[in-house]
Amino acid sequence: MKIIDKHTGLFDRIAKVYGWFFHRQQKGYEFALKKLSEAEELSSVTRVLDIGCGTGALCSVFAKSGYQTFGVDSSHKMLEQAKSKTKGLNIDFQWASIVNDLPFENDSMDLVSASFVAHGLPKELRMKMLNDMNRISNHFVILIEFNQNRRWYIDMVEWAEHGDYFNFIKTIDIELSTIFTSVKKVQINDTSSIYVCKKDRH
Ligand SMILES: C[S@@+](CC[C@H](N)C(=O)[O-])C[C@H]1O[C@@H](n2cnc3c(N)ncnc32)[C@H](O)[C@@H]1O
Repeated sequence: MKIIDKHTGLFDRIAKVYGWFFHRQQKGYEFALKKLSEAEELSSVTRVLDIGCGTGALCSVFAKSGYQTFGVDSSHKMLEQAKSKTKGLNIDFQWASIVNDLPFENDSMDLVSASFVAHGLPKELRMKMLNDMNRISNHFVILIEFNQNRRWYIDMVEWAEHGDYFNFIKTIDIELSTIFTSVKKVQINDTSSIYVCKKDRH
C-alpha cells in the first residue's frame, strides 16, 4: 500500500502546521455536530469513534458533548498533536491504519465518523474503510466531506495533493448506497456536507 504510506509520511510532515488550525476546525465541527443533531435523533449515542482523527478537533467536540470518544490515525505526529491539543479531555487516541481491519469489535460503537479522510484515499481503500465503519458501528456512520460544489482553490489543493477528490465527488453517493440502505446529506457550508448513513438495527 505505497499510496497510504506516502500519505502517512505527508501527514507526519504537516502535522504541526495542521495543528495551527485546530481551534478554527473545532468551531467548524461544533457547527457540524449541531446540524447533525438537528437532522438526527442522537440521544442513543454514547460511544463514538473518529477514523483518521488528525489533530483531534472533531474528537474534542464529541468529548465535550459528553460522548465516550475514541480516535485513530496512522500518523504518529498527528496523534502527538491530538494528544497535546486535547489535554484535559477524556479521549482514547490509538495508532491504527485502515489498511488493516481496525481494532474494534463489531457493533461496538454507536457512531463512527471520518472527516476529510475518504476523498484522499484510492477507491479500493475507501470502500474498505466504509465497510469497516459499517462493521464497527451499530447505528450511525458519518462522513464529513466535500460535496459536489467545486471551487477553484479546492481544485488546486486537491490537484496538488494527488488524492482521489475528483473521482470522489462523482462517485461517493453511489459508493455509499452500495453499503448503506439509508444515506442522507446535510449541507454544512458551500463545499462540505455530512453524509449521514444509518445501519438497519436488528
Ligand atoms: C485531511 S486529514 C483529516 C484529519 C481530521 N479528520 C480533520 O478533519 O482534521 C486526513 C487524516 O487521515 C489520516 N490517514 C491517512 N491515511 C490513513 C490510514 N491508512 N489509516 C488511518 N488514518 C489515515 C491522516 O494521517 C490524516 O490525519
